[in-house]
Formats: sequence, structure tokens, C-alpha cells
Amino acid sequence: MQTSQTYYLAPVRGITDLVYRNCFADQFKGVDLAMAPFVQTVKGNQIKASHLLENTPAQNRLPTIPQIIGRNPGHFIDLARQLADAGNTAVNWNLGCPYPTMTKKRCGSGLLPYPQDIDKFLETVCAEVPLAISIKMRLGLETPQDILTLLPILNRYPIEHVTIHPRLGTQMYGGDLDLDCFGLCLETLNPPVIYNGDITTLEAYHTLKQRFPQVTTWMLGRGLLANPCLIEEIQQGDPLPLSDKITRIRAFHAALLEGYSQRLSGPAHQIQRMVSHWEYLRVGLPFGEKLFHKVRKARTLADYHTAIGQTFGSGA
Ligand SMILES: Cc1cc2nc3c(=O)[nH]c(=O)nc-3n(C[C@H](O)[C@H](O)[C@H](O)COP(=O)(O)O)c2cc1C
Repeated sequence: MQTSQTYYLAPVRGITDLVYRNCFADQFKGVDLAMAPFVQTVKGNQIKASHLLENTPAQNRLPTIPQIIGRNPGHFIDLARQLADAGNTAVNWNLGCPYPTMTKKRCGSGLLPYPQDIDKFLETVCAEVPLAISIKMRLGLETPQDILTLLPILNRYPIEHVTIHPRLGTQMYGGDLDLDCFGLCLETLNPPVIYNGDITTLEAYHTLKQRFPQVTTWMLGRGLLANPCLIEEIQQGDPLPLSDKITRIRAFHAALLEGYSQRLSGPAHQIQRMVSHWEYLRVGLPFGEKLFHKVRKARTLADYHTAIGQTFGSGA
């Protein structure tokens, strides 16, 4: 019997914000849960109002887990308590971010080579934080030996689930996935393992599903941003007709634009955010490249609307 599968929207900073998640929930089906982009721990400070809003369950039309990046257990606990006060019941710890600004501070995947620090962190945090704790991680910073050393440590703590992106921090978001190492982690870890990485097509999903039948939760990032209907297609087993997809993406785009006009100050910020979305959406549309080059040149909202109307049509 086929077990039911669960699909998570990956956190993508600057893209899968509250506006995006809510518009996505209104327009597309299939995402069971979203992980929010990370909030950074800061010494002794109140969480920023904008971060709190993004991570308040009452504001989110998709069930959303907040994510924290940082390596100081005390700062993590302070932030997690504020997230709990806002109504959250779970929090994710980022051990995957590959950007040198983070890794140099031993945050994100930069902490993976330090198993004793991770052990101490989890010992303190799991005892103090009134939320279910999950982890999102890579195989290592420079070597998959990092995760192999960490597996018995992670197995000692009540971790809700572990999402693994089977690359090293030094690979950033490209290069080969190490699926053999992912398979080993899947066999060894006690907490449920969520697969994340390069699910960009129905075929890619089916290949992974065949190889890892024990996985029941799949996290999708760039593939879903490029084709927001991808989970629906996975669930029904066939691609949707392109014309239907375009109609729905057009309505989604109109809702995003409206959402940012309320949230972001000034047209320059709105255009900038929309261009970031087109960096992903262009991949899934036949006229995407042409459209992207046009919107990138827009300096005013009028330019932006003209560029959209010329290629995509303006009707929602
Ligand atoms: C621009 C960008 C921002 C990201 N921001 C986050 C983040 O805030 N937290 C996190 O855990 N992962 C972040 N990721 C990683 C994604 O969640 C995901 O692990 C990665 O894109 C691989 O999955 P995919 O191949 O399905 O996109 C980011 C990725 C990109 C490209």
C-alpha cells in the first residue's frame, strides 16, 4: 500500500516570505507546511517586529515552522521563547546555510565540523525550549564526515525531524548530490528524515521516491518556485496543461504585487522583490527569459506593468 506523502515548502530567504506563502496558499495546492526563512539570533534583543509578524501563526495561511540560525544556546532560547509566545509550537535550527558571512561565524553549515558544540547546544536547548525542535542541515561544511560523526549525537536528542540537503556547504547550491551518504543517514537517524534538494520535475521526484521509499516527507525549494504547480502535478501524476498553469501563475503574480504594495515601502522595493520572484518563475515559463530581461530593466511601476503586459498579459 502506498503511504501518504507530505510536501514542505523550503525556506528561501528574500522569496518565501509571508506575502509569498499566503498568496501561494490561496492559489496552489499540495504544500502541507512551509518552513520560514531564518531569523538570526541576536544578543539580548527583542525579535524585530517584522520577523515576529512573519512568524506569527495567526498571520500565516500555510502552517509554518519558524527557523533560527545561530550557535549560542542562550540567544536561541530567548528567541524561541518569543516565537512560542507568538503562538508557535515548533522551531527549526538552521545547520545548512552555506554563505561565508554565516559559516565564518560558525553558524549554519559552518557549525557542522564542531560536533561537541552541536552536542552542548542541543543538550541546553532541548531542555529549555518549550517548542518541538527540528533541524535542517547539509552533509557537512567541507566533508560528509561531519554528518557521519553527528548521527549518534543527533540520535540522543528528541528532535522532531531532520531535513537533509545532501550537499556540502562549500558546494553552495550546485554540484552533485551525495545520495549514497543521504541513504546512510536515512538508515541511521532515529528522527524522521525529510529529503530536500533538486526536486525540479516529476521525473526527478519519481527517481528519488523510487530510490528512497522510506522517505515520506519531501521539501521543495527552487523547483516549486519555478513551477508552483509541481506538487499538484506530483500528486496527480501528470503535468498540468500549460495554459492553466499560466492563468494561475498570472493570478498569483497579481496577488504578490498587491501584497507587496501593502507591505513594502516604495515602488523600488516592490519592483526589486518582484524581480527576485521572476528569477525563479522565469525557469518554468516558455517566455520566462524574455520577460525576466524586461522586468529587470523596469525603473518605475509603470515600466514594470508595461513589461508584464507585453509578454505575460496583465489580466489576473
Ligand atoms: C536564495 C536562497 C535562500 C535560502 N534561504 C534559506 C533559509 O533561510 N533557510 C534555509 O534553511 N535554507 C535556505 N535556503 C536553502 C533552501 O531551503 C534549500 O535547502 C535549497 O534551495 C535546496 O533545495 P532545492 O534544490 O529544492 O531548492 C536558501 C536557498 C536559496 C537559493
